[in-house]
Amino acid sequence: HFYAIILAGGSGTRLWPLSTPSFPKQFLPLPTGNSMIQETLLRVAPLAPADQTWVVTGKHMAPLVEEHLPTVPSNQILKEPMGRGSAAAIAWAAAAIAHKDPEAILGIFSADHVIANVPTFRQTLQLACELAEQDRLVTIGIKPTSPETGFGYIRFADAVCEGHGHQACRAEKFVEKPNRETAESYLRDGHYVWNAGIFIWKASAFLAEMQEHLPDSAQKIDTIVNAPTDHQSQLLEELWPTLENITVDYAVLEKTTNLVVIPADLGWGDVGNWEQYGDLFPADAQGVHAVGNHTGFGSQNVVIFNNTERRIYTIGLEDVIVVEMDDLTVICHKSHVQRVKELAEHHRNQT
Ligand code: GDD
Ligand code: MG
Repeated sequence: HFYAIILAGGSGTRLWPLSTPSFPKQFLPLPTGNSMIQETLLRVAPLAPADQTWVVTGKHMAPLVEEHLPTVPSNQILKEPMGRGSAAAIAWAAAAIAHKDPEAILGIFSADHVIANVPTFRQTLQLACELAEQDRLVTIGIKPTSPETGFGYIRFADAVCEGHGHQACRAEKFVEKPNRETAESYLRDGHYVWNAGIFIWKASAFLAEMQEHLPDSAQKIDTIVNAPTDHQSQLLEELWPTLENITVDYAVLEKTTNLVVIPADLGWGDVGNWEQYGDLFPADAQGVHAVGNHTGFGSQNVVIFNNTERRIYTIGLEDVIVVEMDDLTVICHKSHVQRVKELAEHHRNQT
C-alpha cells in the first residue's frame, strides 16, 4: 500500500539564470548526469513501483516532468492549473489515491532535495511506514547546523517507538520559518530539528486533518476527484483557483497533535543557492568547482558554471561565483549569493 508522491512545483528564482520559472531547479543536472527530480525518483523506486508513484506539478511544467520521468504513467502526473501551495497539492494526490486504495500510505518527497545517505533514508522510511499504519503523521528531522530561517523547526519530546536503527519521537511543537532570533533560541535549546520536508502518512489520516484545518479546500478537492472523469478538468479549472493558497507546514503541521518526528542523519540538503549547488560538483585542490570549460590561474574557492562553449579564464579570484550563459554572465561574490533573487527580479523587469 506504499505510494510515492513527488512534489515538483518550484519557481526557480534563487538559482537564476541556471533555473528559471519555465525550467525550475528540480530539472537541473547533478554530477551523476541525472536531474534532481530523476534522483528523487531513483531513491524511492525500490519502495514504490512506477504504478504507485505520483507527481504533482504545475500544468506548464508537466511536459518537462514527463520527459524526465518517462516511467511514471501520465495519468499519475497531476497538473495544477496554478500553484495553490503544498497543502492543496498533497491533498489532491491523497484524495486521488485514496479513491482507488483507501488503505494507501503516502511518502511525500520534494523534487529538489539531495540525500547523500540513501541507506539511512530507506531505514527511516521503514520505521515511518510502521507509524503511519497507526494513523500517525510522520516527518523526518535533520539536526540543525545554523539558525536557518527558511526551514520548519520541530521540537522533539519523548520517544514513541524504535526500530530500523532509529527512534521516533513525539513532536511537541512545529514552527514554520521562525525569525532569526527564534531560530537561534531553538539551536541553543538543543531539542529542535529541521523539518526535512519528507512526510509519511495514510492518505485517509491526512484527508481527515485537511477536513479539520482546511475544510473548504478539502471539500472542493473531494468534489474534483469524485466527479465523473469527463467533468473533472472543467471542475479543476473552476475550483482550483479558489483553494486557499497555503503550505502544508502552516495549514496542518503547525496545528496537528498527531505528529511524530524521526531524527536522522540523511546527508540531506535543500539546494537553495548557487554555492550549495556548485558544492555538489567535485572540486580541485584549490576548491574550484567548475562545471563546463574553465581554466584558473591561482583562483581559489570559486564556483564556475559555464553553460557555453566559450573559454573562461580566471586569475587569482577568491570566493566568487561565475555563471556564464549564452545571453548573459553573472559574477557574484559568495557573501552576496542570497541576493540572486533580487537580480532575477531586476533582470525580468529590464527585459
Ligand atoms: N505541486 C506543487 N504545488 N508543489 C509545490 C507547491 C505547489 O503549489 N508548493 C511547493 N511545492 C513543492 C516544491 O516544489 C518543493 O518540492 C516542496 O513542495 C517544498 O516547497 P518549497 O517552496 O521548497 O518549501 P520551503 O523549502 O520553503 O519549505 C519547506 O521545505 C523545507 C525543507 O526543504 C517546508 O516544508 C519547511 O518546513 C522545510 O524545512
Ligand atoms: Mg525548498
